[in-house]
Amino acid sequence: MTAASKEVAQLPGGQTVLSVKHWDDHLFSFRLSRPASFRFRSGEFVMIGLPGENGKPLLRAYSIASPFWDEELEFYSIKVQDGPLTSKLQKIQPGDQVIVKIKSTGTLVIDALLPGKRLWMLSTGTGVAPFASLMREPESYEKFDRVILTQTCRMKSELAYGVDLEKRLMEDPLVGEEAQGKFIRYATTTREQSERMGRITDLINSGKLFDDLGLPELDPEFDRVMICGSMGLNMDIKEILEARGFTEGANSRPGEYVIERAFVD
Ligand code: A2P
Repeated sequence: MTAASKEVAQLPGGQTVLSVKHWDDHLFSFRLSRPASFRFRSGEFVMIGLPGENGKPLLRAYSIASPFWDEELEFYSIKVQDGPLTSKLQKIQPGDQVIVKIKSTGTLVIDALLPGKRLWMLSTGTGVAPFASLMREPESYEKFDRVILTQTCRMKSELAYGVDLEKRLMEDPLVGEEAQGKFIRYATTTREQSERMGRITDLINSGKLFDDLGLPELDPEFDRVMICGSMGLNMDIKEILEARGFTEGANSRPGEYVIERAFVD
């Protein structure tokens, strides 16, 4: 048992760390036990954290990176050396405890989108987390002919989690077979040379994204878009979509696209 687990073991809402994977110096993912009573929709987020200095829990919003049917909860996080939560969270080990508030919410859910042909999930950095959930959601494949995940990062090492997600998806006993025919991952870097480069906004505007994938340009009649990245990215994509006639959806009023900020920074 490490120091972190001793501190939180007695706290209500503590879930056990089952595994931790460090992707590079700045990114890691971990899996927690799932409270039996906890229900959520794929794509939603929850508050998770550790006890703070004063004993009060230090909580942050994290998208759940596993689908609703998974027995465990997966999360994907950056490591900020002086970040109040992630400086500690990055040190968790199997057997430790992490607080999970079992109240989920969010707009990156299939219910907030109108029926369509293609589901686009556009992300930068850790914004891929809600899509890690949705790409293993059976409804994604029941409702759409194609499910396209884009992830843009500065450096190649930041794309490693996405590579692993795709590998796990293809081997998934529940959705793997359907995903093999429908899922596409399109990853780009902006500050390190790689196979594909460029900001997703530029790739949409130039049409290169569609040429590369052999798919038609974004059309509000057929395409549904989910966006999860930095504030700047979100606003830029919103502008691109609205110029093409897309309207924003919400839980109460489904639309042609939905948007959520990638939280922890
Ligand atoms: P860039 O390297 O050109 O800034 P960050 O780490 O700053 O959150 O950025 C993650 C990725 O998202 C980077 O590849 C970055 O590209 C890209 N990005 C940041 N802001 C935007 C934006 N407004 N539109 C498109 N891509 C963006």
